[in-house]
Amino acid sequence: MADLLALKQALETLSLGESLQYVAEHYNQVVFSSSFGQEDQVITDAIFKNNPTKAPLNIRVFTLDTGRLFQETYELMDSTKTKYNQQFETYFPNTAKVEALVKEKGFNSFYYSVENRKECCFIRKIEPLKRALAGAEIWITGLRSEQSDNRAGMEIVEWDEANKVIKFNPLIHWTYDEVLAYLKENKVPDNPLHRKGFISIGCAPCTRAIAEGEHPRAGRWWWEASQKECGLHAS
Ligand code: ADX
Ligand code: SF4
Repeated sequence: MADLLALKQALETLSLGESLQYVAEHYNQVVFSSSFGQEDQVITDAIFKNNPTKAPLNIRVFTLDTGRLFQETYELMDSTKTKYNQQFETYFPNTAKVEALVKEKGFNSFYYSVENRKECCFIRKIEPLKRALAGAEIWITGLRSEQSDNRAGMEIVEWDEANKVIKFNPLIHWTYDEVLAYLKENKVPDNPLHRKGFISIGCAPCTRAIAEGEHPRAGRWWWEASQKECGLHAS
């Protein structure tokens, strides 16, 4: 843990691009998970061009395609790959597991109980995440502390016991306005759904637009009273 403290101290003094360059140069397997949300688009831009090298850093970028994403998200995936002329790895759920789930419980089982919803998230996100993180030393995410009470307690660098990896959250202290300013200033594409009331975007059947004044994550799993995490980021 002394190493983690030293890493935290080193990263806290650096800009976004510098901090990404630092981990890319000091660790062997550095991976970034992108859901193509606004925070992730900021990090993608910094990995591929907006860092001191002005060239792609040695960081593997992957996304988890649950099979239930919005069409707008798939379009953004393609346009982002084209813009940076880079490959993103895509991890899909285990075919046999999805087939068994749908056979037993239908296509929309997640609406009927929290247990069912967690089962679907496990099959479509958590298990593929474990495969994507295999062998990684550093896992970069777009988490921000403002996003939820659970995330408020998170640090820029943490040990993720569930996945046995160092988690690096470079935007943890950024505000939403800072994210928007970065996207605008650097002309980074984002999801058009953000202009239609969607702030936090996940799977299509589990995300709705929010009304003014609602919590930014209120549209995620909106039918559940308090559960606003899928389990990717256990506290
Ligand atoms: S979630 O747990 O509620 O789904 P959220 O959408 O806020 O997470 O995203 C937080 C971070 O989790 C993202 O910045 C990204 O690093 C990771 N993440 C979430 N969903 C995915 C996905 N489908 N593919 C890759 N990374 C993801
Ligand atoms: Fe399944 Fe919804 Fe979780 Fe996506 S967010 S994996 S559709 S329960």
